[in-house]
Amino acid sequence: MKKRYLFFILLLMVLLLVIVACKTDKASDSNNTTKDVAIEELPIMVMEEVALNDGNEGRNAYIVVDGIVYDVTSSSKWKSGTHNGFQAGRDLSEEILRDSPHGTKVLKNIKAIGRIEK
Ligand code: HEM
Repeated sequence: MKKRYLFFILLLMVLLLVIVACKTDKASDSNNTTKDVAIEELPIMVMEEVALNDGNEGRNAYIVVDGIVYDVTSSSKWKSGTHNGFQAGRDLSEEILRDSPHGTKVLKNIKAIGRIEK
């Protein structure tokens, strides 16, 4: 009887530990990061460089949202740097909120490669 009681206590403690571990993980996820990279650690880029990467004629395709530069070169949704009438090489912070059905949630799967200094 006593053994069974101890076993249950142990089980409860393990469960509690697992829950705490999961919560800590989630908290660090939302800690100013984008696709596993800390924003502060991204290299500073200028808009001129972004503009050169418009996805046309084999060039890379970069877009800027809220000061972060995303590389959409390999995205099937951004072939030749265009996506539903929007052109890469630009700051699309307003357009993604105003015109897209998805909003900024799609960016969490896109590689962030730089940030624009304010
Ligand atoms: C008429 C406006 C737009 C439409 C109808 C549209 C539609 C879509 C659809 C259907 C997807 C596939 C994923 C999903 O459904 O969540 C997608 C992905 C995406 N869209 Fe849009 N979009 C629009 C505007 C924009 C704008 C303005 C941006 C600006 C940054 C943008 C950025 C993206 C990105 C980064 C992805 C993810 C691509 C990937 O995962 O490879 N979209 N969009």
